[in-house]
Amino acid sequence: MMLLNNKYKLIQNQILRLIKNNRINYLMSTSSQQQIQRGAERLNGFDKPTVWSIFSPLSVEYKSVNLGQGFPNWNPPDFFMDSLLKLTKEGPHQYTRAFGSPKLVKAIADFYSPIFNRQLDANTNVCVSAGGVSCLNSIFLGLVNPGEEVILLDPSYDCYRAQIQMAGGISKSVPLRPRQLNSQTDIKQRGPVYTVSASDAWDVDFELLEKTINDNTKILLINTPHNPTGKVFNRQELERIHEIVKKYPKCIVVEDGVYEHLCFDNYEPLKLPRFAQLEGAWDRTVSVYSAGKLYSATGIRMGWAVGPQSIIKYVQSFHQYSVFCQHGPMQDATAEALELSSKSSYFTDTAQKLKNHRDLLINQLVNSKIPFNIWVPEGGFFVICDISQVEVDPKYFVDEKTGEKYTKDYAFSIWLCKEKGVTAIPCSVFYPPEYQHLGQNLVRFAFCKTEDTILEAGKRFNN
Ligand SMILES: Cc1ncc(COP(=O)(O)O)c(C=O)c1O
Repeated sequence: MMLLNNKYKLIQNQILRLIKNNRINYLMSTSSQQQIQRGAERLNGFDKPTVWSIFSPLSVEYKSVNLGQGFPNWNPPDFFMDSLLKLTKEGPHQYTRAFGSPKLVKAIADFYSPIFNRQLDANTNVCVSAGGVSCLNSIFLGLVNPGEEVILLDPSYDCYRAQIQMAGGISKSVPLRPRQLNSQTDIKQRGPVYTVSASDAWDVDFELLEKTINDNTKILLINTPHNPTGKVFNRQELERIHEIVKKYPKCIVVEDGVYEHLCFDNYEPLKLPRFAQLEGAWDRTVSVYSAGKLYSATGIRMGWAVGPQSIIKYVQSFHQYSVFCQHGPMQDATAEALELSSKSSYFTDTAQKLKNHRDLLINQLVNSKIPFNIWVPEGGFFVICDISQVEVDPKYFVDEKTGEKYTKDYAFSIWLCKEKGVTAIPCSVFYPPEYQHLGQNLVRFAFCKTEDTILEAGKRFNN
């Protein structure tokens, strides 16, 4: 007994000493770190800083004109706000049907039936979820088995790769190849009519695609209009892709068309070529759209997947246990917006507005003292600039706090934010590690910003 008491005292003293020396704190923090490290492997790498976590606070700190993130800085159209106000009072405020309220899925089926030249069934051909991003997640998680491959035509929207990883899939990259760049002088000489657009200048590498696709490829993803290049895939390109995909019966094509209404120059809004329209392609294609993009309301988190029942049923299965359903009044307001806007000039007006903003931004870039070379986007929200002729002070290549080394696109974007007060997004983030060098001389600017914002950015480029 005596011996035991002595042992307790010894342990007690040891603990007191550890507390005094701060060792306990250290031990506790190590064990909580271990707990954090117990996060699922599917999240590996997600704790690293993202381009958004670096540039959003930097933009606030330096009060920069933010042409980084792709959200319009104007309000949604009145007809949408009016419906939403009315329905917020009326409801429904309880759970709705999981895959979309009856009113919304009917409106979606009516909207896309003529586009896909077939009568869509509101219940089996549509799944409404929390924005395009959540539809994509339900597609990857609902369709990709661990170890199956997904082909991306990079540069590409940064959520794809993370979602594929969460599904246990393996992303394979087939980078688009930039062919022809417009120099500032080219564009000045040619004036506002751009003959070489991003659509012609970013080529699909069909040879690499043929080498990459195989019997284990579950999904090939096409994003048109494309973020970040602004390319709109033409029908011949889609047909060539179809010829390749046809040889692989298990391969599904996901077409991310969230910018479907923003086509300029050669295409009318919503009238771009779509993969599911190709002969024999419907049964293997699922398309993704976004009400947030359609109605300049990216915060409403409303999007839908459209496709054959044989694919949509798996998207619905994942969605029902992860999201379940969306806000009732918002769904029904979106239904009313779809009905109203397809009967009015809303989409033509919106595309014209964005085209004007694109031209305005290009003018600012072309007339800036910074030697930007650019690809003229034919759709979407963004323009990509080549910065290989820009010299960046070496101090911006190293993070002053962490000592971490930056690539040129990051160094340039940090310099631009701190010294000029304009935020851009470095493009290496849109490539996988093995192809990150392809993005190191590229930065992306958003033109879904008011004219005043774009003009202010132009002024700051030359300060
Ligand atoms: C190519 C692409 N797909 C999907 C999304 C997500 O759309 P949503 O805001 O509806 O989730 C975005 C958003 O920026 C995007 O650029």
